Amino acid sequence: MQMSRREALMAGGLGILGVGGLAVPLGAGLQAKAASRLATRNMPVPYAAAFIRPPVLPYTALHDAEGPYRLYTVTEQRAMARIVNGLDTPVYAYNGSVPGPTIKVPQGTRVKLRVRNQLPALHPAFGHPFNTSTHLHGSASLPQYDGYADDVTHPGDFKDYWYPNWQPARTLWYHDHNVHTTAQNAYSGLAAQYHLSDEAERDLLPQGTYDVPLTISDAMFAADGSLAYDDNSHSGLWGDVILVNGRPWPVMQVKRKIYRFRILNASIARSLRLRLSDGSPLVVVATDGGLMPVAQPVTEYRQGGAERYEVLIDFSKYVPGRTVDLTNLSNKNNIDYDHTNKVMRFQVVDDSTLPPDGPGSRTVSTMPSTLVASEAMGLTEKMSTGGLRLRLERSDVTNQYEINGKSWHDVVDSGYQDVITVVRPDEVQVWEIENKSGGWFHPLHIHLVDFRILSRNGQPPFAWEKGPKDVVYIGEGEKVQVAMKFTLNKGGGSSGNAGGRYMIHCHNLPHEDHDMMQQFAVGAVNVNDPIASAPCKPDTGEYDDGSPDETSPDGA
Ligand code: C2O
Ligand code: CU
Repeated sequence: MQMSRREALMAGGLGILGVGGLAVPLGAGLQAKAASRLATRNMPVPYAAAFIRPPVLPYTALHDAEGPYRLYTVTEQRAMARIVNGLDTPVYAYNGSVPGPTIKVPQGTRVKLRVRNQLPALHPAFGHPFNTSTHLHGSASLPQYDGYADDVTHPGDFKDYWYPNWQPARTLWYHDHNVHTTAQNAYSGLAAQYHLSDEAERDLLPQGTYDVPLTISDAMFAADGSLAYDDNSHSGLWGDVILVNGRPWPVMQVKRKIYRFRILNASIARSLRLRLSDGSPLVVVATDGGLMPVAQPVTEYRQGGAERYEVLIDFSKYVPGRTVDLTNLSNKNNIDYDHTNKVMRFQVVDDSTLPPDGPGSRTVSTMPSTLVASEAMGLTEKMSTGGLRLRLERSDVTNQYEINGKSWHDVVDSGYQDVITVVRPDEVQVWEIENKSGGWFHPLHIHLVDFRILSRNGQPPFAWEKGPKDVVYIGEGEKVQVAMKFTLNKGGGSSGNAGGRYMIHCHNLPHEDHDMMQQFAVGAVNVNDPIASAPCKPDTGEYDDGSPDETSPDGA
């Protein structure tokens, strides 16, 4: 039997609560408005947990015939996390860490990321074969290192991914992209930030202690503390617990200084509308593809899955002891619960309360205004030599989400030959993306490129979107135009890029898996075969890396 989304929501017994401002008395015991099946004593409450930063991943410095590179290794493995009160939650994560370890790389550094799949053969809770494919989201990687959905690494195997890192500084993230189970795999813990730095970014923005990753996600829990999964007939999963860096509604102590937050919405479906509780500005300085030309102060903004926004918050005006909350006003077509209107709390403290700043820490004394131009933000409609129209739809016939009436099944059935378009290297194109439906929003991600949003429903883009992007929120009834240049890597050898096939898909991950994904090609379809040219290998624990030049103790 097929159910409409509304029926599915009702069948789940979950009323849809309105947007923001829930006038519900707070308290941990309101199970009626919860998705989790936890006993009251196990249910986390807002602002009880301490904020933590994910660990930074150390590397080994090596070299090959092309020169020096960094080897980073992560092991995908089962671990126990303490998220809810009194119960352990099994997670499946990079090095067992939720979120995974942050990778920090200066521009121009060649990186080899070794991903070792040491997961159980089948996902113990969800039952699917626990294959993985790792995508570095925001990187212009070669197709065979881009986390192509069907380029899988099986439990017991490993794969080496090469990343070029020639692009401007930005907040990227690496996450699982396995065909048809991306949602379950990312939800189980396979997601982490990756920071690419350059001189412009180091000059303009806070560093070290004042440069803070915030990976926001939502989750729902079974009575035993394990992660529950219900995607409402593939329309999306909406958890009742908001996590920041894997902690429920944490409290972060901050000095009276300007901080930079790299906000990643790693929820598999939920979109956010973030606002500070006192209405103070969030100064947006960078988007998915890095620095904006001009900083954009906003009082609230909308952030869909996989979008990254870097925002500065000035805590200098608050007296020690004051708290300011990061809240979520939500958006249409999300399911909200008692506490999903909260994200985290900042507690302003006297400088001497906190440990001394870490090495390399630096902040700014005033909010920057002019930042830097980028190739993407210089693109205009006039430069375009081709275009494409993308219709994002749900088919009642197939009960699938589709792009232009097609799904990833069509790509698989074609032997991975079917492409939505073939573009020339370095060509500029304007694509128009439309969502006629009022029932869903779709954060659309185009691999390889940075794009500029030219218009939204014939109007200029929102203030916070005036920077280079690789995911665009296509809201209900919205039509958006984006301009992009299909730049391939300028480097040579293992990080060189002759083009090939790249995915394009909705970043609501249940939509992506069912089956809102297509591919396009740059240059030619049959170069850099994403499946055959760099397959995974059995993981014997022996690798031919040569001898290390040095090992970084701190990963910086
Ligand atoms: Cu963040 Cu194709 O993915
Ligand atoms: Cu979608």
